[in-house]
Amino acid sequence: MFLTKSEEKALAGEDGEALEIAYRVLVAIGKISNAKRLIPIKWAHVSGVSYLTIGEYGLDFLKKISSTRGTKFKVFTTVNPCGMDIENWDSLSIPSDYADKQLKIISCYEKLGIANSFTCVPFQSYRVPRRGTSVAWAESSAAIYANSILGLRTNRESAVSALACALTGKTVYSDLHVPRNRVPTKNIRVVIEKRDGRGLAGSVDFGVLGYFAGKNIPGVIGFQGLKSDLGMAEAKALCAAVGTTGSSGMFVLNSREKLETIEFSEKEYEEIFSELSQSSEGDAIVFGCPQMTIEELYELSKMIDGRHFRKKCIVFCSSKLYDVAHNRGYVQVIEGAGGTFVRDACADFTPLISALNVDSVETDSCKGAHYMRKVHGVKISLKETRRIVEENVI
Ligand code: F3S
Repeated sequence: MFLTKSEEKALAGEDGEALEIAYRVLVAIGKISNAKRLIPIKWAHVSGVSYLTIGEYGLDFLKKISSTRGTKFKVFTTVNPCGMDIENWDSLSIPSDYADKQLKIISCYEKLGIANSFTCVPFQSYRVPRRGTSVAWAESSAAIYANSILGLRTNRESAVSALACALTGKTVYSDLHVPRNRVPTKNIRVVIEKRDGRGLAGSVDFGVLGYFAGKNIPGVIGFQGLKSDLGMAEAKALCAAVGTTGSSGMFVLNSREKLETIEFSEKEYEEIFSELSQSSEGDAIVFGCPQMTIEELYELSKMIDGRHFRKKCIVFCSSKLYDVAHNRGYVQVIEGAGGTFVRDACADFTPLISALNVDSVETDSCKGAHYMRKVHGVKISLKETRRIVEENVI
């Protein structure tokens, strides 16, 4: 892979150990992916923020990078949710030794220079660059959304590669950065007649489809037979579920390519749904995997309509969107109904779910269903948001 003189210099360690490590990571990825060069990026989104996912080894690595003198992120950098509400962790049953580790991770990222939000829907809080711009986003749901919905170009970065991209302001010119690779490799034709022929609708339906698609197609997915006016919540659910079960980094809605095609019918829907949902009811409700958008918070506040939750309901969103929702009065409605907001945290990789001490959880998220069961051992009741609200508010 071609490197400029300054890149060679940094790789040789002349600009400090942190940059040397970062360039070593990029060069290694470049070799594996046959890339010819590095390209500049406009935005890095870094994952690996929850102590539950990166542990002691990750914390030590971050301490090492952030303590190298003068090391700062070179481009606009956002980070994924962490493992707790940074301000209210002590009132939310988070053990103090966990909180201590989590705060150390946050402090490393702050030293390196991050935008002030811990979110997996970064496209909601910051201005999105124009279509065709190269970025480097970890967090599979956000990377797939960036490629498929926003028209940005990113590979599905890992926590370490996204960190290297943020430190250098560059990424490897390969895979989904290259226009010719951004075409479907296989199609999925949706032949489902749910709800009186109206097809798929809502985040559960699109999550189930994404879960199926991710399992079956590792490359760019071409969808056929979907409605053209996908809502943001539906698109977000589709992206998150694709990223949960496979390595695909992008899909194309309404693919016109003549390719090998897999059908997604009622049978496939039911198989995936029963894999994800093991219970008809849950002991607690979890909304916000990926974290809730401002539109979803508005919808939730409208659905509640002055009533009260009859079981614990936790709502995950970024602090930036919480503030916007607070200014608009949605937070007051949801909290007034007994809902608990958890800001800046990941809905799945947090000790909070285990601390609820429940056997089962109701959620509208297929990604959440997958991870909450695996990480916290709870049974899942998967339902649309509106149904969860209607069955649980009085
Ligand atoms: Fe976001 Fe965590 Fe779900 S990062 S997508 S809330 S697993």
